[in-house]
Amino acid sequence: MTKGLRKGLTSYGDAGFSLFLRKAFIKAMGYSDDALERPIVGITNTFSDYNPCHGNVPDLIESVKRGVMLAGGLPMVFPTISIGESFAHPTSMFLRNLMAMDTEEMIRAQPMDSVVVIGGCDKTLPAQVMALASTDIPAIVLPTGPMVAGHHKGEVLGACTDCRRFWAQHRAGTIDVTEIELISGRLCPSIGTCMVMGTASTMACIVEAMGLALPMSATAPATHADRRRIAEASGKRAAEIAISDAPKPSNLITDASVRNAMIVLQAIGGSTNGLIHLIALAGRAGVKVDLEAFDQLGREIPVLLNLKPSGTHYMEHFHHAGGLPALMRELTAFLDLDAPTISGGTLGDAIAQAEQVPGQDVIRSIATPLKKEGAIAVLHGNLAPRSAVIKHSAASPNLLRHTGRAVVFESVEDMAARIDLPDLDVNADDILVLRNAGPKGAPGMPEAGYLPIPLKLARQGVKDMVRISDARMSGTAFGTIVLHIVPESAIGGPLAVVRTGDRIMLDVEGRRIELLIDDAELESSLAAWKELPPQRESATRGYAKLFEEHVLQADQGCDFDFLLRGDS
Ligand code: FES
Repeated sequence: MTKGLRKGLTSYGDAGFSLFLRKAFIKAMGYSDDALERPIVGITNTFSDYNPCHGNVPDLIESVKRGVMLAGGLPMVFPTISIGESFAHPTSMFLRNLMAMDTEEMIRAQPMDSVVVIGGCDKTLPAQVMALASTDIPAIVLPTGPMVAGHHKGEVLGACTDCRRFWAQHRAGTIDVTEIELISGRLCPSIGTCMVMGTASTMACIVEAMGLALPMSATAPATHADRRRIAEASGKRAAEIAISDAPKPSNLITDASVRNAMIVLQAIGGSTNGLIHLIALAGRAGVKVDLEAFDQLGREIPVLLNLKPSGTHYMEHFHHAGGLPALMRELTAFLDLDAPTISGGTLGDAIAQAEQVPGQDVIRSIATPLKKEGAIAVLHGNLAPRSAVIKHSAASPNLLRHTGRAVVFESVEDMAARIDLPDLDVNADDILVLRNAGPKGAPGMPEAGYLPIPLKLARQGVKDMVRISDARMSGTAFGTIVLHIVPESAIGGPLAVVRTGDRIMLDVEGRRIELLIDDAELESSLAAWKELPPQRESATRGYAKLFEEHVLQADQGCDFDFLLRGDS
């Protein structure tokens, strides 16, 4: 088999010349022939001044390189796109598939026998694992790790659960400008990913549960020495799998590991975004995520992790309580313990090494769960013919069965313009509806599903309302919020024809979301909608055009249709 520098030669029509030229140029960097004969481990560099969640990437790269060289390999660092959640316009989800394509193509284009992908901020790990599934060369995932927790006036803070809570208090007039500025300097006290169970933490747990990353990779804080030791170990293991040419992502992304990931997603109180990303990365490997099975697991698997926003603790506490192996030990009755991992053993082997930490309250047992059901429910009904989701572990129990009057916003812009108007016709038991915020509609399916409580209600002390949309929501948010309605309104899903004043029924226990009008009226409204002129201008060029023409719906992972494998 062709290895090392001889892999993927540039096409000059003469293989010998191609290798000669490649060596001649790379020797400009001072490499010896001995170094250039070693197995090559590629390492992605996703450092960016725009991405504080990746602020430790240079340090991690140094540690990975050390591990690679200790095991006799040659580390080669190369840049890829980096996406920082709050610096991505219009939304990071718009760029996830671009990063996946960039990462995939740069792995294919350059000679490497294995690769370490280093990522962390919400869309980066999904993009990288999608790329790995498509290239299928031996690979290991290294999350950047969570920030340490913040503190303000004796209270422990988490980005971004508390970002939203404090901002809501500022909107309601209970926190002034001076204090909110002070808080903005305390919410993110170190580099690393959000330290609550947002999408970044969720995806880090999913990749570890699927055996794509070493044990404890999901939880070690970004600034902790453990993180750099895990990086060194990841480099060492990457050199070993470069030599053995196994395992490959296709050996690890299987029906069994995807089901294990679904179980963990429910048990950690994971982000709804995690479900979209899991569908996408599994789809690249030809594995289908069954939403009904996922929902059924949610009825059987309780939330065991006492972490914000479902619970009270933070990722560093999870790490010190034994991390994901200790949590999965509580789930052994459900998990497929024979699933292989990148370490060379099985998931059962990783769990057997889990630390016992006496007296901790972060990881609950099955007998004493945080919530008796899992984090996420899948809903159906005439408003969501294919599906919708709700993270009911982080919702108000009294709103999980609720019927109310719809107050409709046509788009994110319409919502921003009107939600705080003093004369907005809205009451606390109404249901806020946002449309045209799905994958094609916005475009990019922004995290706008967490509609703010209208100012006049916030000032009356209203903290939660039922909100429904075809948008996404940050995993760090709390609220009774129905998301990912499929089909989205921009392609004629029933959300498109809801009118202010219509009544909507949410029943999470019954897994229903219904517009309370009769079928004939709904059908004639949808038929009339189809005759309307386009609601917005289509993209005419570039990536936006590619995105609009090829992005799939949320229940298909929002991947591009031409990037899936098989019939998934
Ligand atoms: Fe990057 Fe939260 S903003 S992980």
